Amino acid sequence: MRQAGRSLPEYRRVRADVPMLEACARPDMIVEITMQPVRRYDIDAAIYFSDIVVPLKAIGIDLDIKAGVGPVVAEPIRGADGIKRLRELEPDDVLFVTEAVGELTEELGDRPLIGFAGGPFTLASYLIEGGPSKNHERTKALMYGEPDLWDELMRRLSAITLEFLRVQIAAGASAVQLFDSWVGALSAEDYRTCVLPHASWIFEQLSGSEVPRIHFGVGTGELLGLLSEAGADVVGVDWRVPLDKAAQRVQPGTALQGNLDPAVLFAPWEVIAERARDVIARGRAAEGHIFNLGHGVLPTTDPDMLARLTHLVHEESAR
Ligand code: CP3
Repeated sequence: MRQAGRSLPEYRRVRADVPMLEACARPDMIVEITMQPVRRYDIDAAIYFSDIVVPLKAIGIDLDIKAGVGPVVAEPIRGADGIKRLRELEPDDVLFVTEAVGELTEELGDRPLIGFAGGPFTLASYLIEGGPSKNHERTKALMYGEPDLWDELMRRLSAITLEFLRVQIAAGASAVQLFDSWVGALSAEDYRTCVLPHASWIFEQLSGSEVPRIHFGVGTGELLGLLSEAGADVVGVDWRVPLDKAAQRVQPGTALQGNLDPAVLFAPWEVIAERARDVIARGRAAEGHIFNLGHGVLPTTDPDMLARLTHLVHEESAR
């Protein structure tokens, strides 16, 4: 899950003088930041340090990540002209990814490296709104008002995302995760019509690569069935739906990832432990379960609580 930074002092130290997107394009920084939580917590897998907007920047879209805000796009896309600016991503655009993933897989040994990319709806929302959005109103205006343009936008973004994931797989990533974080803003019907075909295409194209594919969004209680229909091996669940219920909503054979509320980490340890045990117990109803938070680590989280949590999960899952 995204760390959304700053919960680790060692992260703040290395990032102090380096802007986020510069850090994401420098193999030395990528390797160091990816390894930091592995060293500190002895977690079972590492998540590649990057951001969902990195491939967009790599094809020349003028954007930045502002601390405390998120991605900000200089010239938001509002129609056909903007969509044409979304050219295909070539492996040469992201040589730093190939280099960093290669170094990381060597350093990690048997420990898996999870690569990732943004899902088409979430990327479209940042590009159209120009930044983070509560209601995604301009995005929906295009989606409902200009279905052909929407389709073209989804196709181009899906191709960029697929290529970004392929580069990571080719360089040695052992699993990939598609973060379509904001699809929970859509009704099930709109998701089915306007986004699902594109998510399915991405997972289908990856099916020959033999790495597990994870699909995640926030606020997706009503969409879990459709998210798993898109074809991933694992569906990520936020904290709003208990995993035993989520297990009934996904396709047979689909594993789950999640889903401790990141805000629970601010409660007393006894509460955290009880909630974590509950997540593990309910996860046993699923075909398989990867313990994780239901969304990213909040920046002011106490790293010691994460250390205790990791320890508890290792103990409990060994039973
Ligand atoms: O552990 C890791 O480093 C994971 C890497 C990771 C980042 N972004 C690094 C990051 C991952 C998996 C992401 C994905 C991402 N980025 C998503 C999808 C996952 C999700 O959380 O739903 C989304 C929606 C984004 C867009 C984005 N980038 C947001 C909303 C923010 C937070 C802005 C803020 O400061 O509150 C970012 C910035 C970001 N991405 C940071 C990190 C470490 C923080 C940068 C900083 O230290 O200032």
